[in-house]
Amino acid sequence: MKKTILAILLAAAVFTACGPGKTAKEPASTAEAAPAAQAPVLAPVPPMGFNTWNKFGCNVDEKLIRETADAMVETGMLDAGYRYLVIDDCWQVDRAADGRIIADPERFPGGMKALADYVHSRGLLFGIYSDIGPRTCAGRPGAAGHFDFDAATYAEWGVDYIKVDWCNCDDLDAPTEYARFRDALRRSGRPIVLSICEWGRNDPWKWAKGVGQLWRTTADIGDNWASVVWIIGANSRHADAAGPGGWNDPDMLEVGNGGMTFDEYKTHFSLWAIMAAPLMAGNDLRAMTEETKSILLNKEVIAVDQDPLGVQGRVVIERGYGGQVWMKPLADGSKAVAFVNYTDRELAQYVRWSQIGIPPGPARVRDLWARADRGVHSDTGKHYDERFEVRVPSHGVVLVRIWPGE
Ligand code: GLA
Repeated sequence: MKKTILAILLAAAVFTACGPGKTAKEPASTAEAAPAAQAPVLAPVPPMGFNTWNKFGCNVDEKLIRETADAMVETGMLDAGYRYLVIDDCWQVDRAADGRIIADPERFPGGMKALADYVHSRGLLFGIYSDIGPRTCAGRPGAAGHFDFDAATYAEWGVDYIKVDWCNCDDLDAPTEYARFRDALRRSGRPIVLSICEWGRNDPWKWAKGVGQLWRTTADIGDNWASVVWIIGANSRHADAAGPGGWNDPDMLEVGNGGMTFDEYKTHFSLWAIMAAPLMAGNDLRAMTEETKSILLNKEVIAVDQDPLGVQGRVVIERGYGGQVWMKPLADGSKAVAFVNYTDRELAQYVRWSQIGIPPGPARVRDLWARADRGVHSDTGKHYDERFEVRVPSHGVVLVRIWPGE
């Protein structure tokens, strides 16, 4: 209750301090801008939702967004935590004479405000896409020269989340530009999640916390195993930077898009969860197979990702022959442990309690994909045969949660 009152007071303070009407003039730098109000923590846990890009590319329209909103409710995605419905590139076509950004009138005839209202009416949050530079990656109008005007427009439409890309920005300073964009969002008076998308080019893990709530660490994901393996390696290097309010973003999910096996998709999803990554589904939610649903809707795996302690898991054992063991500490004192197999054959792997921060003695194990208890295992720290061992399929994962004690 206290929290709710505080949130209302904060929102009111932000709104009265800087209503959208005052924002049409574009400040040249943060120094010249009016002091930005303190924003509430927008992403205490990694954001979850859906984004159009991986499956639909530029083929976006309001029918797709409305149907996806319905699907998010009907399939249980919203109940599982996927709240943001984000339209990526290509919704925008031009600017009006006064500088106002214009949505494609053929694809979005009802306009963005009505679409956001519909998304909100389904209990979801609404997201959109822009670019720091003059043009987006697909050549649509970007935000350059219009940060405040756009932020005010988006606030007026009811935008809750914006992904901001870095195409056509080569000569610009990323920390400065994204901070200016953040300040424009704050002046709009609406809390809006800022998803920084400069692909790890400018070491965002060093400066993006406090600027955006998530920041890409790599180039774009592809719907294939090699891409997932490469991204896992790259994103794992920045675990120190992640925590409540700011997350490394290894890019959106490919689960359900058809380019990987069931085991590979489970590994992809498990590692995103272990790395406390934002979980933005990137498949057609209107036509999911039972296999795809069993991955995206596994609440025990999602709980690992969304754990309030907010620690990005790390590799604790690197086996030269193509196996890894990862550990993510969780708020209740348990540990999520992932055994990964990068080889073409089944691989037996084991772990000792001392390697995952569990004290010697008994510990209770649950397999999060089998959704089955695996009993109490004991590791005295002395006997090799009392370690916990699993058999991991090729390109697959075994993901368990281990609680110290009986
Ligand atoms: C970049 C981003 C992608 C997507 C496209 C859209 O490549 O990294 O995630 O937003 O632009 O054009």
